Amino acid sequence: MAIDRFGRNIHYLRVSLTDHCNLRCVYCMPEDQTFRPNAELMQDDEIFTLVRLFASLGFDKIRLTGGEPTVRADIVGLVRGIASTEGIRSLSMTTNGILLPRLARPLKDAGLQRVNVSIDTLDPQKFKRLTRWGKLEQVWEGIFAAEAAGLTPIKLNAVIVRGYNEEDVLDLAALTLERPWQIRFIEMMPFGGVTDLQTGGVVTAAQIQHKIESEFGLLRAEGGYDGEARMYRIRGAQGKVGFISSVTVPFCSACTRARLTADGVLRMCLLREKEIDLLTPLRSGATAADLRQMVLQAVWEKPWGHGLEDGVIPLNRAMNQIGG
Ligand code: 5AD
Ligand code: SF4
Repeated sequence: MAIDRFGRNIHYLRVSLTDHCNLRCVYCMPEDQTFRPNAELMQDDEIFTLVRLFASLGFDKIRLTGGEPTVRADIVGLVRGIASTEGIRSLSMTTNGILLPRLARPLKDAGLQRVNVSIDTLDPQKFKRLTRWGKLEQVWEGIFAAEAAGLTPIKLNAVIVRGYNEEDVLDLAALTLERPWQIRFIEMMPFGGVTDLQTGGVVTAAQIQHKIESEFGLLRAEGGYDGEARMYRIRGAQGKVGFISSVTVPFCSACTRARLTADGVLRMCLLREKEIDLLTPLRSGATAADLRQMVLQAVWEKPWGHGLEDGVIPLNRAMNQIGG
């Protein structure tokens, strides 16, 4: 087991497969974002080696992220390899859903268990404005493809941005009336790249919840957290709504996660700049024992929590370069 100095058992690894993306969401990256050349990214065999290493340290839960993980070459083969790694019990993916109409079934067959799909509004115009390049109907088809393929329960993520989609939380929440989906409202977090929009446009979870309750009545608490989301249900609804309040009510004390960026760097907190390069030592011949030691040390030194309240914002990477 990998335990940090505060006694947290770190067993959840979020692996970013690429910093590339087929969208340009305003809260994630600038429109003219440049991407890393492929040679700087972990290659398939390097990903498998590192996943085996983490699994040997007790990591049993993996989420694939990006950028957009589905734009990675041979994503199905990668999922198959990771899913069959001894010790990995849970394998899921966070995706923008655009490519799911053709990938949902092969990904499920390869061993992917679930997906979280990002959808911030149900209004095609607003969707275009938020994602710059996206067509809402493609995501919508992607969600249905995921459901048909059994990548369930379907979880949807919506980042709420002042001046873009605060009003849309009602339509999104209403999806749960008829469908057994989870819709999770996420407070926007600040990173490098588009920091001004991110710090100026935060809508708090409390504000979102208030808006939903003024339309649908008081939400019923659903027994605490699902991952990082506090879960609720609209009276009589099939699905659930959740709130991820990373900015206003951090869940750091319960954090069990580490992140591996697409360029092979271990980041023990999404919102702290500190990084431990694993790919360079791996490429220059470090042994499995050396690498294990580096990971255990990094876990031990995992920061207690983020410093947003003190105005500490991580600026060394944009969101797509870390992995959501
Ligand atoms: N704050 C919060 N969530 C973000 N995401 C991207 N950028 C931000 C941000 N600044 C979310 C996406 C997606 C996941 C990968 O991360 O909406 O759900
Ligand atoms: Fe792409 Fe996701 Fe960033 Fe949007 S939030 S630009 S879909 S990586």
